[in-house]
Amino acid sequence: EKGTYPHYMLKEMDEQPGVVRKIIQAYEQDEELVIEQPILDAITASDRIYIIAAGTSYHAGLVGKQYFEKMAGIPVEVHISSEFGYNMPLLSEKPLFIFITQSGETADSRQVLVKIKDLGYPTLTITNVQGSTLSREADHTLLLHAGPEIAVASTKAYVAQVAVLAIAAYVTGKATGKAIDFDLKQELAIAANGIQSIVDSKDVMEEIAADYLKTARNAFFIGRNLDFCLSMEGALKLKEISYIQAEGFAGGELKHGTIALIEEGTPVFALVTQEQVALGIRGNVKEVVARGANACIIAMEGLEEDGDTLIIPRVHTLLTPLVAVVPLQLISYYAALHRDCDVDKPRNLAKSVTVE
Ligand code: F6R
Repeated sequence: EKGTYPHYMLKEMDEQPGVVRKIIQAYEQDEELVIEQPILDAITASDRIYIIAAGTSYHAGLVGKQYFEKMAGIPVEVHISSEFGYNMPLLSEKPLFIFITQSGETADSRQVLVKIKDLGYPTLTITNVQGSTLSREADHTLLLHAGPEIAVASTKAYVAQVAVLAIAAYVTGKATGKAIDFDLKQELAIAANGIQSIVDSKDVMEEIAADYLKTARNAFFIGRNLDFCLSMEGALKLKEISYIQAEGFAGGELKHGTIALIEEGTPVFALVTQEQVALGIRGNVKEVVARGANACIIAMEGLEEDGDTLIIPRVHTLLTPLVAVVPLQLISYYAALHRDCDVDKPRNLAKSVTVE
């Protein structure tokens, strides 16, 4: 029930710190993060992971790729489920297929699962719904523990997906001796606190939405590296609930075409959470501002500069999507409200897409 909340989406965004804390508990044993042995065996046995997902779950998969590659040394490909069948990639010798799906019912993803099972390859579903179709039909399941997500726009499930992917990759890296040296449990707890402080300052995001999006026809989200993965999720959230045409793309791609669309007043949301690319994205901000863009700079503490619009709490560089997604969700939410859109049930959309 949404209780005193005007919308499920708002309630679900508020639940996000709790979701991260719940995930830490659910995957903790004797103070250590763990995943079930058969799942760990399936991951360590694979020479390449193929992540299959749609929409927001696909965006979480893009982050998950970096986690498995950096924390566990396993190469990963991420595929949009509806496209996978048309041009199946050449598979490695020991592939593992990971399906990321909040509902566990997405037909596009299931269709790939059926095909992969026919071929006899191992499968793992990461889902929020125990007993869902993709959970039942895969060899293994990792649960998101996010609680029911009712609003059509996915929020807490994305945060949960990123957290669970981080845990799976981290535990794998520990088991294979390829781990990078950090305490994920502690860093996730710090991220939960960071999310908390963002949801506790909603008025700032409401103001940003009013300033940048009240009358906007379109909007851009730019970032590099993990911030690029996140920019696509920011754009999707804005599109689906506010109906503002939005695009997320890599900062370096601006000059290859998109910059032609920048006009006087075009809102551009620039993400600055990755130290090694901060300079590059700041350069992109200058380029769009020089062409009249209304730039909203969202920077992580420690990377901020005078004139930035929003500073978010500092977290481990790999975990920034977990925290930086939250202001983007809130900005979309308030943009939709300011434009009198039906936040929980946007036009033309269903919560789970059970047709191909
Ligand atoms: C976006 C959204 C959709 C879903 C997509 C996949 O907010 O809700 O893009 O992420 O339909 O759904 P699941 O994760 O249930 O497979």
